This record gives sequence, C-alpha cells and structure tokens, in this order.
Amino acid sequence: MNLRKTILATGVAFSALATASFAHAEPTAEVLHWWTSGGEAKAVAALKEDFEAHGGKWVDSPVAGGGGDAAMTVLRSRVLSGDAPAAVQLKGPAIQDWAEQGALADLNDVAEAEGWDKVIPPAIQSVMKYEGDYVAVPVNIHRVDWIWANPELLAKVGATEAPKTWDEFNALADKLKAAGITPVAHGGQPWQYATVFETVVLGLGGPEFYQQALVDLDEDALKSDTMKAVFDQMRKIRGYVDADFPGRDWNLATAMVMNGDAAMQIMGDWAKGEFLAAGKVPGKDFICSATPSEHGYLFNVDSFAMFNVSGDDKVEGQKLLAELIVGEKFQETFNLLKGSIPARLGVALDKFDDCAKKSEADLLAAQDAGGFLPSMAHGMALRGHLSGAIVDVVTAHFNSDMSSDEAVERLVEAVELAKD
Ligand code: BGC
Repeated sequence: MNLRKTILATGVAFSALATASFAHAEPTAEVLHWWTSGGEAKAVAALKEDFEAHGGKWVDSPVAGGGGDAAMTVLRSRVLSGDAPAAVQLKGPAIQDWAEQGALADLNDVAEAEGWDKVIPPAIQSVMKYEGDYVAVPVNIHRVDWIWANPELLAKVGATEAPKTWDEFNALADKLKAAGITPVAHGGQPWQYATVFETVVLGLGGPEFYQQALVDLDEDALKSDTMKAVFDQMRKIRGYVDADFPGRDWNLATAMVMNGDAAMQIMGDWAKGEFLAAGKVPGKDFICSATPSEHGYLFNVDSFAMFNVSGDDKVEGQKLLAELIVGEKFQETFNLLKGSIPARLGVALDKFDDCAKKSEADLLAAQDAGGFLPSMAHGMALRGHLSGAIVDVVTAHFNSDMSSDEAVERLVEAVELAKD
C-alpha cells in the first residue's frame, strides 16, 4: 500500500515536473559581441554571470576585432543563412537598418513591464526604437573624445596635465618626440583613424561644424578650409606615432601608454576598462582628459538588438537578457568594468571613478551647449555605407602623403557617391 502510494506520488511529481519544464523553457541566448580585450571580456563576463544567475543559458559568440567591423560581417552572413543569433551587439542607425528589414524582435512587453520609457533617456530611446517599438536595449554611454596619458612620461618634458588645445597638443607632442618618447600610441585600423579624426573635427571645427560635416554631410562643410585644417592636423598626428602602428589593435596601443612606451592615446573610454583591468589607478597611473573642444562630447551607446528567432527557450532568453541589461544593478556592475557610464537614468555614480564622473558632468554641460553629438566612427551618426565612405578617405590620407586639398576633394566625392 505504502509502496503504491509512493509510486503514485512519484508519478504525480514526475508529470508535474514534465509539465513545468514544457511551460518554462530554459531561457537561452546566443550572444554575438566583439568584447574580447581584457577590460571588455571582464565586462561581458559580468553580463553572462547575471544572466546565468537568473537561470539563463548563455551561448557565447565573440568575434574579435575592435570597433565591431568583423562582428558585423559575421552577423550579415548568419542572417543570410537563416541562422541569426538571438542577441547581437549593435548600434545606432544599424539598428534601424536591421529593423527595416524585418529582422528584429520587438521587446515592448518587457519595456512596458519594466517602465523603460521612464528610465531610458529620450535621446537614447529613439535609437532603441523602430516605428515606436523597442527593438534594442542600451548597455552604456561611452565617450569617444578622450586622451589617455601616462603622467610619468608627461613629467619627463615638464607637463603636469594633458593638452587643452590642439596647439598645446602639438607643442607637447613635439617636446616628447624630441625627448625620444613616442607621443601618440595608435593602432592602424580604419576605425581607429576615424576615432582620432572625429575628435579633431570636433575640436578644430566646433560642435556645429561636426554636426554639419559628419552628421548632416553638408557639402560646404566637407570641402571647407576647416576640413583642410583637420587633415593638416591628422598629418601632424601621423608624425607622432611609432613605425609599428599598422594593424595594431587598440588595446595594444593602450598597453603602450600603460607600460611607458608612448605618452598618449586618443581613444574612447573602453580604454579605461583596459587600465582598470590591469589594476591601474586613474589620476595616479594614468590621466583621463577630454580631447580639446568647446564643450563637445561624442557619444557611443552600446546596445543589444534581439533578432527574430524561434523556440520558446530563445524568446524567453531574449526577454530575460533585455530585462537584466536595463536593470539598475547590471548597469552599475557592467559600466564599472567597461569604462563607460550607465545608460539608465538615476543610477548613482558613487562607486565610479573621477573619469566617469567627469564623463557625466561633461555630458550634461555638452547637452546644454549643443555639443552632445553622435560618434561617426562608432556607428552612431550615419549608416554604414556613408561612414564607410568617410573612413576610407581618412585611412587613405593617413597612410600616404596625400595633401589636405586632395583629401577634402576625395571626401566630397566619396560622400556624394555613397549618398546616391
Ligand atoms: C564599442 C566598445 C568597444 C570598442 C572597441 C566600440 O565601438 O562601442 O564597446 O569596447 O568599440 O572594441
């Protein structure tokens, strides 16, 4: 009798379990991203841990290559072969591109349940939405226009801080060079040239010029004397990098500053993630300073878009991941490691360092001054074929003795062609 009871009870338990596992598929997400450097890997590991702690199964699909060009190539081929990853690191207008093609899943249920309209700043919401539907979630706000400097090397030529104008930048770099120190750590990859280029456009032209040239693609701005001066400055910077720059990854350039092999790097604050991952202390082992500009701030918001996938486990996985990403706790943990600041409103910066606090203060000042602008180099300002046209010219100029006049001519031509 007892035995029968037990068998019955067990039977009931088994069938209950079976029903439960049908009703609640294990949330699973294949995540395609390009976070493979030391600092980046630590940050993405925090996302994976959070997801797993909430019962998710994480399938990691990293594609090495700073700036994400290689990851985007893999994404295109995966989608073409009908095998889209569930969650993809995707940014800016590329989100709209994929949404237009009907490739993205909408996240409105989660958005409503979590009140995203109240916690995501409106300017970021518009990037995450397509025709009013949420199709992506923001992870952070990275700032692009930074100089990362080695204070010991600066001290060798009597400097106590990073330069505040481009003339000061050149004067300091000349001194460093004369002292046998590589002034600028740089990696020769198209997106890295573009990163430096856009900070010079912002600095020499000012926020309004940046908007006209790199967002509105205004022909007058593109062929202006100001743009020629930008290429002149790029030529100067070319003279400040070491001979081994071609092909170098950005994080290796950061390591040069860290190790005392070069004095400064112009790079977004993912570079801070590298310094921190190596145990370096801001203000002591390295200095963060904005590249010279009049209250400019070039923003780069990392985000994840959810591609259309089938299977309850995958759909549940996308929802769980999206919910966690926008969550307050995750926004703090992740951004402390990544070098960026939270994209969610109201996350206190108490645990963040002075560079992050400066980022936030400068962001607010830039918003007031009209200098809060999307990064062209990091896919926030233009669709890929348009930014690609600009980046090609910037790359060709840096790697040849092309004059600034010719660079400007080519820039206008390339943009016109790409617009058609
Ligand atoms: C991304 C960062 C990343 C950097 C280098 C940028 O485009 O927004 O998250 O760390 O590229 O890979």
